[in-house]
Amino acid sequence: MDKFVIEGPTKLSGTTFTSGSKNASLPMMAAAILADGAVVLNNVPRLRDIDTMCKLLNGLGCICEWRGENRLKVDCSSISSDFAPYDLVRKMRASILVLGPLTARLGSAHVSLPGGCAIGVRPVNLHIAAIKAMGGDVQIENGYIKAKAKKLRGATIYFDIPTVTGTENVLMAAALSEGKTVIKNAAKEPEVVDLARMLKKMGARIEGEGESTIEIEGVDRLCGVEFTVMSDRIEAGTFMCAAMITGSEITIKNPPLDAMDAIIDKFLEIGGELERVDDGILVRGCERIKPTMIKTAVYPGFPTDMQAQFMAVLSLADGTSIIEETIFENRFMHVAELNRLGANIVVSGNRAVVEGVDGLVGASVMATDLRASASLVVAALAAKGKTEILRIYHLDRGYESLEEKLKRLGAKIWREKQ
Ligand code: EPU
Repeated sequence: MDKFVIEGPTKLSGTTFTSGSKNASLPMMAAAILADGAVVLNNVPRLRDIDTMCKLLNGLGCICEWRGENRLKVDCSSISSDFAPYDLVRKMRASILVLGPLTARLGSAHVSLPGGCAIGVRPVNLHIAAIKAMGGDVQIENGYIKAKAKKLRGATIYFDIPTVTGTENVLMAAALSEGKTVIKNAAKEPEVVDLARMLKKMGARIEGEGESTIEIEGVDRLCGVEFTVMSDRIEAGTFMCAAMITGSEITIKNPPLDAMDAIIDKFLEIGGELERVDDGILVRGCERIKPTMIKTAVYPGFPTDMQAQFMAVLSLADGTSIIEETIFENRFMHVAELNRLGANIVVSGNRAVVEGVDGLVGASVMATDLRASASLVVAALAAKGKTEILRIYHLDRGYESLEEKLKRLGAKIWREKQ
């Protein structure tokens, strides 16, 4: 197992770039199951979660292979299995994204239930209910979802909660079903919209993506496609936090600005400055970070995936901030670790009160999930002395070349065996 060692405090300078979005790439890889021919995805980040999805697809009989640094070819024309084993699903919950495509394409799916997660219970009941509503016979047996349907039928699906991967599963299944599906209270996240764009290019008939009602008219076949994945709004936001906490000025190339309003608004509100430059943004941190209130919400609200990184920044604000987490019930695992670095954060239910302190001091801390780990990296850049971040395999799941990118910006960061 590897750990990061970071020596701070540090000033960052120079230019970095935004990689392709993990959460857009994963459903697109699953969508390849629906296609008659090969799917070629450009701008796919090299990450552990992407490797896990490749393993899963290869296990189904698809051929998933890199055709360049960030160019991935997925050919499922000879798909032969409907089985997604626990061993892979437990490593990556997003494996549930094969449920809809497998049922639509093969008429059956045998997919492990994901189980619990560090940030919450994260059930998949809404995914299952949707496949049932579309005529699927779904049973839970021995920890597996077993879905069967000669041909899925269009249906009206109302989501109690606008679930991101649930909306993606239904989009994919409905694209190859019989008749019309209407998703009500659909997730509006930009990654859902990007998937819909790709499916349309494959021949799907979809209207309303990005709105709370999406309509899909099923078609008989979907063809192969070449598609460029959107860049990662959460990675770009994480670099903005790194600039903010270190009071630095950096340029971030190709962030998906249209998808980043809530992140940019908060960044400006706490004292950051931002200028549009050619092909990106120049962001500048400030001397005195202003405290604020943050409430996570579904898109276009403030993303839960940026909550931990902003908390790290606000731990050095000039006053008290309040952060409310409304999406996941246990997404404050980073609090105890930030406090080990000298932060003063108290959690009560789903609210964290962040009392700004004058400085953070390096310590050994433990990464618990992907974004919690990112918040520890952000904090460590500003902490005085050496911080060791253990269990960084979480970061390898979701940030492409994080230490190289930070190193190029001037951070003292390296990887060691734990
Ligand atoms: N929920 C249910 N039942 C369901 C599905 C969801 O109760 O069947 C609840 C969840 O427990 C949660 C809420 O609905 O409380 C929203 O969860 P959602 O389904 O939208 O989350 P997800 O699709 O599992 C995706 C991202 C997450 C991101 C969330 C919220 C992917 C692969 N994952 O998860 O990304 O936090 O949406 O925006 O797209 C990350 O990248 O670090 C990450 C966790």
